[in-house]
Amino acid sequence: MIKKKLLQMFSLEFVGSASLRTKLIGIHLLMALIFSIWITYYTQSILQVYFYRQLEQQGIAISRDIAGRSIDYVLTENTFELSSTIKDTTENNNSVRYIFYLDQENKVIAHSFEKGIPVGLIETNLINDLEPRVQLLETEEGPVWDIAAPIADGQAGTVRVGLIATGLNSVVRSISSNVLISMIMVAVFSTIIAYSLQKVITDPILNMVKATQAVAAGNFSYRIQGNAITSGEIGLLVKSFNKMAEKLEKSHQEIETVEKLRRLLLEKVVSIQEEERKRIAIELHDEAGQSLTGLKFTLKSLENSSKDPYFKEEFKEIHEQISNTLNSIHQIIVELRPKLLDELGFTATVKKYVNEYQGRYGIKVNGELKILDDIEIIPEAATTIFRIIQEALTNTAKYARANQINISFQKQQDNLLVMIEDDGLGFDPSLINSYKNNPNKLGIFGMKERAALIGGTLIIDTTVGDGVTILLRVPLERVTHKYE
Ligand SMILES: Nc1ncnc2c1ncn2[C@@H]1O[C@H](COP(=O)(O)OP(=O)(O)O)[C@@H](O)[C@H]1O
Ligand SMILES: [Mg+2]
Repeated sequence: MIKKKLLQMFSLEFVGSASLRTKLIGIHLLMALIFSIWITYYTQSILQVYFYRQLEQQGIAISRDIAGRSIDYVLTENTFELSSTIKDTTENNNSVRYIFYLDQENKVIAHSFEKGIPVGLIETNLINDLEPRVQLLETEEGPVWDIAAPIADGQAGTVRVGLIATGLNSVVRSISSNVLISMIMVAVFSTIIAYSLQKVITDPILNMVKATQAVAAGNFSYRIQGNAITSGEIGLLVKSFNKMAEKLEKSHQEIETVEKLRRLLLEKVVSIQEEERKRIAIELHDEAGQSLTGLKFTLKSLENSSKDPYFKEEFKEIHEQISNTLNSIHQIIVELRPKLLDELGFTATVKKYVNEYQGRYGIKVNGELKILDDIEIIPEAATTIFRIIQEALTNTAKYARANQINISFQKQQDNLLVMIEDDGLGFDPSLINSYKNNPNKLGIFGMKERAALIGGTLIIDTTVGDGVTILLRVPLERVTHKYE
């Protein structure tokens, strides 16, 4: 039972997965074969009925003829003549299987059987009639038409003739097999013709399939070409497909243009932002920083020269406050624009930033920066990567409650990989998409955008309770050369 079901499923699946062309041809061939077998069977039955009727007529004619010819011999019981009539008739007619004569008491006078009349045969067709009677007998040799014809209207007995259809059967069989062969040939030829004709139907559909696959793969300029466009429903379908593809292409181009523009603007905004930060940092350093440093020295000398312990103490306090303010300004300057990035280069800047970070937040940072000795990072990439590290570390300080952070740089094929991982609280990564539309949470979005500006990608891997890992991947050529 299960096996049968499996078989059914298998065959249906097989049909389902076949191509349209195979399905159509398969259906045609199947129908043609069923039709051939039916025609053959039908022809065979008609022929059989016809031939059997003929045989019956022939049997009646033979039996009548013998009955007419044998009246005298039966009356005189001339067995010699009767036997020779039997012999002549059986020799001249292939279909005659046996002949025997019965007298009025249904006793056998003469017969054609070599080993005597089979038991029960006489009783199968006894008549009291003036007309011959046909009785169909089922025997081991096949059907036998037993015809009983009265001799001299029954007054001289009966002649019985048995006919078999062996000759006819082989004729019917040979005609049927000829019909079957012809029909199969017709089926095969018509399948070949159908195969070439069905291309007319399937080709446009196959073209459509190819076209939809191309568009699905992002080739929006794909169109179904002129000669494949037919009329009717498929033609309409093709035309609407082309129109749809055209619209898709247009909107795709528009999106691309807008995206390009957005990138350009973003690039501008980022570089203006960097410039502005630099300017403010310089101003803070040169103006506020310098004058406060001057003030600090003045206060120091005032503190030293003052004799009054009260003023001395006051000067010292103000001096310390100014020192603290200077420290804060210094931190702001480093955050705004680590001037070391230009002067000392990327590695030293990251080290310095990390040191200050550890001091400020008490989070241990382990760094594997060795690889950076071999890479000379261009300023644009240096700023971008630095800002990403800065944002990641700030987020860890703000939200993660982490104990430590690992930063590592690796070269992998043609990419620079930067990995920043903390062992903090982590967060639900499905929220990242919703942050995109939240103007108060632009940190992660900004990191991704900055990465994209230098041809890189940024992946955030996190689960609640399991820390955050940020993986930045940038093509080395964008890190080391100015990209045109
Ligand atoms: N390292 C981290 N550990 C835990 N949560 C984090 C971490 N980084 C980011 N988050 C979560 O992701 C949110 C979005 O971060 P971000 O885009 O930088 O925005 P913002 O820092 O302005 O809140 C944060 O509010 C915080 O909930
Ligand atoms: Mg942030």
